[in-house]
Amino acid sequence: MGGDPDRIYTRSDRRVTTINGLRNQVTRCKTTVGVSWPDDQVEDVVEYLNTKFYQLK
Ligand code: HEM
Repeated sequence: MGGDPDRIYTRSDRRVTTINGLRNQVTRCKTTVGVSWPDDQVEDVVEYLNTKFYQLK
């Protein structure tokens, strides 16, 4: 990511292209990290990433 971790969300070949895909990826990464976020907190992260980077409908 060239020292800028935000680029995982902004690079031209980023993977997420739909809101549901974003939700799935956040859920997958949540499991990988081993945090126990309830669904509303997953949704907060989805909303944050969508507002700041993805701007998907
Ligand atoms: C809670 C913190 C994290 C959140 C919210 C998060 C969220 C995301 C999102 C939204 C993407 C999609 C990026 C795209 O559009 O291409 C992604 C990709 C990915 N994340 Fe995470 N992530 C987190 C932590 C982690 C950690 C700690 C790992 C590894 C141990 C990880 C592994 C991955 C991998 C392998 C990808 C795919 C990268 C690619 O497409 O090339 N994530 N993550």
